[in-house]
Amino acid sequence: MTASLIDGRKISKKIRVGIKSRVSRLREQKIRPGLGVILVASDPASCSYVSAKERACRRLGIFSETARLSASVSQSDLLNRIDVWNQSDKIHGILIQLPLPSHINQDAVIQAILPDKDVDGFHPINVGKTLIGDETGFAPCTPSGVCELLIRGGYDPSGKHTVIVGRSNIVGKPLAALLIQKKSGANATVTVCHSATKNMASYTRQADILIAAAGRAEFITGDMIKPGAVVIDVGTNHIEDPSCEKGYRLTGDVHFDSAAKVAAAITPSPGGVGPMTITMLMHNTVRSAEEFYRKLCAT
Ligand code: GUN
Repeated sequence: MTASLIDGRKISKKIRVGIKSRVSRLREQKIRPGLGVILVASDPASCSYVSAKERACRRLGIFSETARLSASVSQSDLLNRIDVWNQSDKIHGILIQLPLPSHINQDAVIQAILPDKDVDGFHPINVGKTLIGDETGFAPCTPSGVCELLIRGGYDPSGKHTVIVGRSNIVGKPLAALLIQKKSGANATVTVCHSATKNMASYTRQADILIAAAGRAEFITGDMIKPGAVVIDVGTNHIEDPSCEKGYRLTGDVHFDSAAKVAAAITPSPGGVGPMTITMLMHNTVRSAEEFYRKLCAT
């Protein structure tokens, strides 16, 4: 079998057309959606994610402001910045690029963001709403992007055994919460595997839909996949490769060549989930601005 490709760039482009027209409608009402991003230190991967988010904002007409702070920034400086944006009418979404340096209490920083502006969906209020299926909250962007990829790619997860490899707060746990909801576009039977799972392949081989979010380069190989499965690769890893100009290449958590021989459909990495994450961030930011406008009209 040679898998067909689930093209995250193509699906993202289509969604962004709709987002752009929502931005135009808001701008006709003199509301420009705004995203505030905090980037602490200069980890190359985080810098490139933040640049991609800024670029997406520019292309869609969304205002963005990035606070690039040094690795030694104090927690109180960070909290002050969040407080300013919490109160600003120009900023409708706030995102703290993770990870943060170890002297900063990540939970305290996330909890300082107003839940209504938490477009990353990491505040405990939004985490709880995601778990109970309350769509008034913001669901995290990567898990939402995975669900959109499945639905728009034509792979409805309803009734499918979906195995997630990885239990992070950013991807694995919220993705399980989204996929088990009793609603259309979800309704999956979900298994979550992680670093303490024994005999991982015995689970992954049962998956109709296999989602790799382990943060381990090329961890999922073709022999771990059920023939005909749909494979979603959430990973983006830098691995050394002297044959590449830069000395490294980007690869997912899935060993693409062996997996593509077994799966029915597969996302590439890069070019699969990554663009969808940014698209869902844009969607959440515009939704937040729309809600801001609705409240303004009601007062
Ligand atoms: N670091 C890795 N993924 C993410 C994400 O989705 N949001 C934020 N804020 N930081 C991240």
